[in-house]
Amino acid sequence: MEKIVIRGGNRLEGAVEISGSKNAALPLMCASILSSEEITLHRVPGLKDILTTKQLLLQLGVQLDDLSSGTLKIKAREITDHTAPYEMVKTMRASVLVLGPLMAREGRAVVSLPGGCAIGARPIDQHLKGLEAMGADIRLEGGYVHARARRIRGTDFTFDLKTVTGTENLMMAAALAQGTTVLRHCAVEPEIDALANLINGMGGSVDMSVPGTIVIEGKDRLHGVAHDIMPDRIEAGTHLIAGAITRGDVRVCRCEPAHLLPLLEKLSQTGLNVQVGDDEVRVISNGRGKSCDVTTDPYPGFATDLQAQYMALMVLADGRCQITENVFENRFMHVQELVRMGANIKVSARTAQVDGVENLSGAHVQATDLRASACLILAGLAASGETEVHRAYHLDRGYERIEEKLRKLGADIRREKDVII
Ligand code: EPZ
Repeated sequence: MEKIVIRGGNRLEGAVEISGSKNAALPLMCASILSSEEITLHRVPGLKDILTTKQLLLQLGVQLDDLSSGTLKIKAREITDHTAPYEMVKTMRASVLVLGPLMAREGRAVVSLPGGCAIGARPIDQHLKGLEAMGADIRLEGGYVHARARRIRGTDFTFDLKTVTGTENLMMAAALAQGTTVLRHCAVEPEIDALANLINGMGGSVDMSVPGTIVIEGKDRLHGVAHDIMPDRIEAGTHLIAGAITRGDVRVCRCEPAHLLPLLEKLSQTGLNVQVGDDEVRVISNGRGKSCDVTTDPYPGFATDLQAQYMALMVLADGRCQITENVFENRFMHVQELVRMGANIKVSARTAQVDGVENLSGAHVQATDLRASACLILAGLAASGETEVHRAYHLDRGYERIEEKLRKLGADIRREKDVII
């Protein structure tokens, strides 16, 4: 086990380069199953979840050629196994993203049900309902989804709710389906655009001209393509908040400002000087920020994946605000850890009331999930004294070399072996 140790109080200054998006890379890697030709992905981030996905693809018989500097060549010449086992799906629920492409290419898949996680129940009922509408026979047995179909066929399917990976799974299934598929009430995250671009680059036909509706013309086969992965909007937002919480001056480079609008709006409302360029955003602090309410919503709303990080900033803001989590039912696991550092937060159902305090004191805190661990790092950057964030493995799932990037900005942060489990 490892921990991240931060000695707070340093003002962050300088430029940080954003890595490729985890939540784009994962579906794009799974989409390689749709073709027997080579898919080349550039700007693949060096993350634990990427490693897990590589292991899963290898297990299915997919060939990988992992070049240095973030280029990954994937060739699913033939699929020799159709199972995503429990231990993999439990480690990373996004493993369910092999379900759609396996059904499209092979007409069969055995995928462990992901089960819940720290932030919620995380069901996949919409994924399964959509595949059934496309002609799949779905059987749940022994904690696994057993899916079969002679050939996936096109359908007109409306999601009951917006689901990112649910939309992605059905897009991939539809890409090789017989006939045309219309998906309605889809999630519209930028990562979904990225998947549509990849499938179209492979010779597919994905039309997203009507927001929330995706029309996919099934093809008999798809060819290889090269694709540059979009920047990670959540990593970018996390570093912007690092600049704000330390009252610094931070420039986040190689990002896509258009993906960050709700956060940039909020940061401006708190009094931060926000300067937007073509592929970078600079934040310059004018001192203690003002408290501003936030409600998370599916894109283009305020990203749930930035809620915990934003809460860290509000903990030290001037005033009171309400932070409402509309996407997941249990995404306040970071609250108690922040309270241990001196935060004043009261949670009632899906809303956290945050009364800003003058300062936080460093403490031993425990990471519970990926974004909660980022929140605790941010709080540690601004706290007096030393903060130890235990269970650093949560962080490594979604942030590439975060302590290196923060150290380059002036943070006093290091990784150490951990004796506390
Ligand atoms: C994706 O998860 C992201 N992960 C999550 O990022 C992100 O928080 C989430 O979308 C919301 O933006 C990846 O893209 C790999 P959902 P996903 O299906 O697709 C409910 C991170 O930190 N739901 O959009 O699993 C569900 O319980 C991770 O990088 C159903 O009820 O999320 C949730 O309440 C965390 N039935 C809501 O919908 C379903 O079949 C949104 O979930 C599917 C989802």
